[in-house]
Amino acid sequence: MEKMSHVVKKRKLDKSRQERLYFDSYTDVTIHEDMIADYVRTNTYRTAIMRNSELIRGKVVLDVGAGTGVLSIFCAQAGAKKVYAVEACSIAEEAVRIVRHNNLQDRVEVIRGTVETVDLPEPVEVIVSEWMGYALLHESMLNSVVYARDKWLKPGGLILPSKAELYIAPVCDPVVEDRLHFWYTVKEQYGVDMSCMSDFARRCIMNSDITVNFVSIEDVLSHPARFAELDLYTVTAEELRSVKGQFRCESFGSSAASGLCVYFTVTFSCPDKPLVLSTSPFKAETHWKQAVLYFDAPVRVVQDTAVAGEVSMYPSEDSARHVCIRVDYTIGEQKGQTKTFSIPDWSGEAQS
Ligand SMILES: C[S@@+](CC[C@H](N)C(=O)[O-])C[C@H]1O[C@@H](n2cnc3c(N)ncnc32)[C@H](O)[C@@H]1O
Repeated sequence: MEKMSHVVKKRKLDKSRQERLYFDSYTDVTIHEDMIADYVRTNTYRTAIMRNSELIRGKVVLDVGAGTGVLSIFCAQAGAKKVYAVEACSIAEEAVRIVRHNNLQDRVEVIRGTVETVDLPEPVEVIVSEWMGYALLHESMLNSVVYARDKWLKPGGLILPSKAELYIAPVCDPVVEDRLHFWYTVKEQYGVDMSCMSDFARRCIMNSDITVNFVSIEDVLSHPARFAELDLYTVTAEELRSVKGQFRCESFGSSAASGLCVYFTVTFSCPDKPLVLSTSPFKAETHWKQAVLYFDAPVRVVQDTAVAGEVSMYPSEDSARHVCIRVDYTIGEQKGQTKTFSIPDWSGEAQS
């Protein structure tokens, strides 16, 4: 039998190929179905737009990355005079049909192209965009919103949403616990002691991937700590090259901590009170789930054990659309550790 090689050589993709792969991922119906079916996401945008109708009525709006045009249509329904629905990929053709189907073609103009290259007929008073990726910054689409803001938004204009915040908390993952324990149970079943696989299993499972999964409330081991805040009126592309902050969490009680969970909120300013779209494990589920960063091995914590450190998020060198998360952390009295995580390759992305 041939010796198997597990070494898959990754090639750095050139920028235009990365961009093509990125926009291709938005051409299929499934991703749009997932987004529109995410009621928390879509309805929070709708509510925020409707609550801002006083500021939107009679105004010109830019929807950055309009997709199927759903947010553009909400803005038209809120009374916008004109909405430019800018979309780079072929889903723009469906947006045109949906806009017509809703008889809004006089007020919603779908423009196919990237927001960085299209020419709008006029500056805008409002920018709306749903740009958030896994762990907030995956996909790096916020850069496009910043670009559009600086080029097209009139002074004093409105941005929806206007603020993003990142949170972190230690978590226990019972599935990982079970999978690590599994190798100790094989002997009972089959009479073969495979417990020596446990270490290998731990290295495979508790790897450096950013694992996107639902975290249950009962698996969150402390109050979450906020480690970064982005003001969309002022944040710059330069600042987005490294988003970082410190955190300190204190465990509620005894548990085996498997890793850290990162999630985000975005906030819409509204005339009455701000509206928050949250991806917290303590709130209703969204398609963003949570991002889990596993330690190298489970760590026992007790009540008040401090899990503290610094998180730094930045675009990967191999593909600027992929986020990397570096965490420098200490757990209780343990020696400090550093681990850098990245999102595994886009599914279906050819590694030619
Ligand atoms: C997260 S989806 C949101 C789609 C839609 N706004 C919604 O809420 O359902 C982001 C969309 O933005 C598009 N997009 C990303 N960057 C863009 C850019 N620089 N210019 C134009 N479209 C972009 C993608 O192709 C994708 O369809």
